[in-house]
Amino acid sequence: MKGPAVGSDMSLYGVIHSARGIVDWPFVRPSRLKWERKRFLSPRSNGAYFGVYESFASARTALPASPGFNHEAIAREYIETRTERAFEYDYPVMLWLEKAFRAGAKSVLDIGGSVGVHYYAYRPYLDMPADLSWDIVEVPIIASFGRELAAERGALPFSFTSDLNEAIGAGRHDVWISAGAIQYFEDAHPAKLLSHCAQRPAHLLLNKLPLHDGDDFVTTQNLGYGAFSPVHVYNRTRFIRSIQELGYTPLDTWDVHERLMYVPGHHECSFDKFTGVYFLDRTKGQSQ
Ligand SMILES: C[S@@+](CC[C@H](N)C(=O)[O-])C[C@H]1O[C@@H](n2cnc3c(N)ncnc32)[C@H](O)[C@@H]1O
Repeated sequence: MKGPAVGSDMSLYGVIHSARGIVDWPFVRPSRLKWERKRFLSPRSNGAYFGVYESFASARTALPASPGFNHEAIAREYIETRTERAFEYDYPVMLWLEKAFRAGAKSVLDIGGSVGVHYYAYRPYLDMPADLSWDIVEVPIIASFGRELAAERGALPFSFTSDLNEAIGAGRHDVWISAGAIQYFEDAHPAKLLSHCAQRPAHLLLNKLPLHDGDDFVTTQNLGYGAFSPVHVYNRTRFIRSIQELGYTPLDTWDVHERLMYVPGHHECSFDKFTGVYFLDRTKGQSQ
């Protein structure tokens, strides 16, 4: 999902903060937040965030009824834009994925992998195993578009499901990928998923994650096309440590400058880049 059109320009983030700081004085704050909320709900605010909540359930009650990602227009947008090219933030994933393939990985679970965007975008650049399987967990409408697209393009390694627990329960994946996605699932913290997985993957590639130095919280995002979703934001140290405690080593982390989080009226919840992390379970796999 596209974030606000800010590119990698940190100074723009600074400008937004300073300008909005002026109108953050206590006596103007309530009317300012009312105005910000109205703006957030408008169709122009595709990608914008609003509000700080304790849970998905409370964030949901603050949103208009909407299908979330389970929306034809969102599926079409991904087919048109994201299957055709790799973006800057994809390159670390491609590097580590290729190393995993060279080390013998053959099965990928792509959590929130849309219509198969990562496979299509990476295919021109990577040597993939001939017997690769690439399973995608997606909402029903996007999964159905993904199946149709795979049939049209003859991209055979795919299978789609909307049942995350079933997919991880199968426990036969060498690699888990999730890019800009787990934060939109109500209950898909990787440490929890890994704890419930009988046979854990050797490689864990998490991209476009909203990690910051403050506490965990939930916000909401305007996804465009009249759709909205709650979004988890995680404390960086606790998030990484929770996966390390399961025996994984964070071999690489990278900044994702194309995504930022600006939550109106909450400087402590706003930050100027997202994060990618590659975890390896050294007892199971090696990277070459
Ligand atoms: C921002 S998009 C990212 C798509 C893709 N990974 C990428 O990097 O372009 C988030 C994806 O997560 C999927 N998603 C969110 N919540 C989900 C859920 N509860 N079950 C299945 N898929 C979900 C959405 O349908 C969407 O395709």
